[in-house]
Amino acid sequence: MPAFEGSSNPEIGSALVDYLTNSPLLDGFSEQGLQSLFDSYSDELKPRIDGLMAKLSEVRGERLQKLTQIEALVGKGDEERGRALYFGKAICSTCHTILDEGGTLGPDLTSVQKDRSIHDIVESIIYPGVSLARDYETYQVKTATETHIGILKEQTPDAVVLETGPQTSVRIARNEIVEISNSETSMMPQGLDQLLSEDEKADLIAFLLGRDLVY
Ligand code: HEC
Repeated sequence: MPAFEGSSNPEIGSALVDYLTNSPLLDGFSEQGLQSLFDSYSDELKPRIDGLMAKLSEVRGERLQKLTQIEALVGKGDEERGRALYFGKAICSTCHTILDEGGTLGPDLTSVQKDRSIHDIVESIIYPGVSLARDYETYQVKTATETHIGILKEQTPDAVVLETGPQTSVRIARNEIVEISNSETSMMPQGLDQLLSEDEKADLIAFLLGRDLVY
């Protein structure tokens, strides 16, 4: 994206509008951020940029509506059924620990209901990547021969350890690293909610939010 910024070539601007209009990443822009990309372009592009802004607000509206729908399921589910989903069909436990059980690729969710609002929790599940949990950002590490993508779990003076999947990690010697960059994409898969029916979503949420009744 930065490559486009500061250009004033209308053809590039127009290509950028096309690209963003159809991009799943459009969602992640703020209105201001999007507008600022086009600061340097001439007024000629304005109608197209207005169209893009309208698309942004449409996409935002849809997202908000979906989140509101799912938030409305709070209090309607069954915690025990939710537990079975969490450790089973919904595969959350492959990456997340709750009460000492589960994987470590993602953050421990035992007290997520105390640390995060319901809105944020639901958003993290439905739209991973809108904001990444601290210390669980995705990194891309390049060596002369390979590119690894994962979460930085350990840094020593001579190596870094990247967790590249629920059961996989790789230790890379610092002297082999050509480049480390931050990626905005979450290691959490998109669309997990689509594996679940409305009732099942309600159950899973009940389980995620319910554990402060136990503790
Ligand atoms: C393949 C691994 C993986 C799976 C499967 C997975 N997650 Fe995640 N999840 C992550 C990672 C990595 C993060 C941290 C990056 C981010 O915030 O997107 C995360 C973040 C989260 C957060 C935000 C936590 C915080 O402290 O902000 C929640 C909530 C969450 N996941 C819930 C779930 C639920 C519920 C499921 C099952 C439906 C699930 N995850 C399945 C990897 C996974």
